[in-house]
Amino acid sequence: MGRVLTQAEGVATMGITEDKEFELTDKDFKYIQWYMHKSVGIFLSDRKRTMVYGRLSRQMRAQGVRRFTDYKEIIENSEAERINFINSLTTNKTEFFREMHHFEFLEGTALDQWKHQGNSSINIWSAGCSTGQEPYSIVSSLFISGAFEAFDTVNIFASDLDTSVLDHAKAGIYDEEAIETIPEQYLKSCFVKGRGQHKGKIKIKKGLQQQIIFNQLNLFDEWPKMPEYDLISCRNVMIYFDRETQIALLKRFHQALKPNGILFIGHSESAGPCSDIFHHLGHTIYVKQ
Ligand SMILES: C[S@@+](CC[C@H](N)C(=O)[O-])C[C@H]1O[C@@H](n2cnc3c(N)ncnc32)[C@H](O)[C@@H]1O
Repeated sequence: MGRVLTQAEGVATMGITEDKEFELTDKDFKYIQWYMHKSVGIFLSDRKRTMVYGRLSRQMRAQGVRRFTDYKEIIENSEAERINFINSLTTNKTEFFREMHHFEFLEGTALDQWKHQGNSSINIWSAGCSTGQEPYSIVSSLFISGAFEAFDTVNIFASDLDTSVLDHAKAGIYDEEAIETIPEQYLKSCFVKGRGQHKGKIKIKKGLQQQIIFNQLNLFDEWPKMPEYDLISCRNVMIYFDRETQIALLKRFHQALKPNGILFIGHSESAGPCSDIFHHLGHTIYVKQ
């Protein structure tokens, strides 16, 4: 009797069977795993193979190639396609006011702390902002809670690796369904309904949008010269990295924060491995030690 294939082996042969439109061999998949980890920190486990195949199919179809080896040659020679390749493998799920407790903390404890410290300015970074709902929720929270009157300057920096989601973030126009996740008080004061060609859409008010500086940034590249941050929000980003990469990033965030600076992370993430440098306040909120 033949040996029963393990699940991983079964999946591993999928890319090279006759009925598949594109060829993605074991060697190709290993290369993709290595490349994504080395260049952007993203760890693609063997279980992600079907997802990778699906996402790269679109890219390979657009380029008119059937084999990943041919696509690899394209990305090696075209910076634009290399960026498309990486963009296609990022996961960008987000929404307005996701993890509401962070915004409650920002409007209460964090603002009180910064006022008490006598800050004249506050600096906030949304790292891995995807299509922008996170920094727009932050700016709305700051507006509602009077931060723009309390401080001379409010700087909000928002960055993502993926250039296509960042273009969406900069435009700041969303389908009206987004309304469902925006609590009434923010919706009334911070957003406007689209008209004309933007009918059926919503947009953050221009004055608030202008408070945010959006920039493309791979968190594993050198960071531009930055102010020291009062708050870094890096939520649901580290989940795609392995432990070693998460620790390296947490250490860099630690350096980028002011004394007592605050770190928000995602609901299924933890800064536990860095408990010597981050004190956990609960609810995925940490303070620099
Ligand atoms: C799931 S989204 C999270 C969006 C938002 N922070 C939230 O919690 O709703 C993760 C984002 O992290 C970005 N990302 C992944 N690796 C990155 C890296 N090395 N540098 C910067 N951004 C990265 C992805 O492009 C994606 O938009």
